[in-house]
Amino acid sequence: MTDTRRDFNTVASSWDEEPRRVQLAERVSAAILEAIPLDSHMDVLDFGCGTGLLTLALQPFVRTITGVDSSQGMLDVLNGKIASQCLSHVQTRHVDMDAGDVLTGPYHLVVSSMTLHHVQDTAKLLKTLHEILVPGGCIGIADLDTDGGKFHSDNTGVFHFGFERERLRDIFIGAGFENVHDRTAATLRKPVEGSGEQTFSVFLMTGYRARS
Ligand SMILES: C[S@@+](CC[C@H](N)C(=O)[O-])C[C@H]1O[C@@H](n2cnc3c(N)ncnc32)[C@H](O)[C@@H]1O
Repeated sequence: MTDTRRDFNTVASSWDEEPRRVQLAERVSAAILEAIPLDSHMDVLDFGCGTGLLTLALQPFVRTITGVDSSQGMLDVLNGKIASQCLSHVQTRHVDMDAGDVLTGPYHLVVSSMTLHHVQDTAKLLKTLHEILVPGGCIGIADLDTDGGKFHSDNTGVFHFGFERERLRDIFIGAGFENVHDRTAATLRKPVEGSGEQTFSVFLMTGYRARS
């Protein structure tokens, strides 16, 4: 594992060139649409939105969606897409909580894909995401099942080698979420140095903030 953060600015302009990433975001989006009833009254936050692969897949179904990321380079790519597609209900916000920025709400839904393993203190983040939800609001987090550190060719900025679902479920519940469920959102094959192609799986864990 790591004690330094990854610099996503350096990979932002080429991020979408990897078909595996685009396909994974499509599958995570499909899993979210299957698991969570989205509607046109919803304000949504995509935490760690990157270049907006998930943000843009979900935008047709909701009132507003805000992509939050700590990398301005990633947000610049998403801002370019928002401008070229004239999407006035899609916004971005640069938030770096390690630098003291505060995440504010309220949102009806928080989603996130492939970002949690880059966050050191997952319990603290999940508490914050719980706080910014409206009562009855929902969360849907997609990330790697335990991968033994093999998914990334460079583990800089990888604070978790995937997650054990049972442990993460306890962290969700500890953060205040109810009705916590998980499902497999995607499986993907990826070459691993010295081991040929390996299969990795990505879960979607959902939960709700209590109504009162
Ligand atoms: C692996 S990328 C995933 C991007 C996007 N969700 C996708 O599926 O293509 C992880 C993203 O999380 C962002 N990120 C990492 N740590 C973060 C943090 N503490 N706060 C906000 N964003 C963070 C990175 O800048 C990067 O854009």
